[in-house]
Amino acid sequence: MKHEITFNPSGKKVVVSRGTSVLAAARRAGVHIPTRCGGKMGCLMCKIEVDQTAEKRLSPPEEPEQRKLGSLVRQGIRLACQAKIEGTVTVSIPEDKLKAAIRKKLEAAREGESDELW
Ligand code: FES
Repeated sequence: MKHEITFNPSGKKVVVSRGTSVLAAARRAGVHIPTRCGGKMGCLMCKIEVDQTAEKRLSPPEEPEQRKLGSLVRQGIRLACQAKIEGTVTVSIPEDKLKAAIRKKLEAAREGESDELW
């Protein structure tokens, strides 16, 4: 059975087989999700955000993933390398912290709130 997954904020979509990891689907869609461990749950860089209605369309987090993420699981955070697609779903990739800081500085500078860029 095939399911469509949408990646926000880009809106890119791909159709994959049930049981495909979100990380593998992202690669197939040309969406970058950072990773250093190659999907072995060692780097925790592949976090994605899933809203509560979509949680049922991903495999439930198993004990090792829950242990690694702690309370983040209750906030809808999953590891893309561990979450398997079980239905049509939309996930969000959190903005890189460095990019977010730069974007905020640029926005503040543009609005005249800050005379200094750095
Ligand atoms: S890819 Fe490293 S924890 Fe998921």
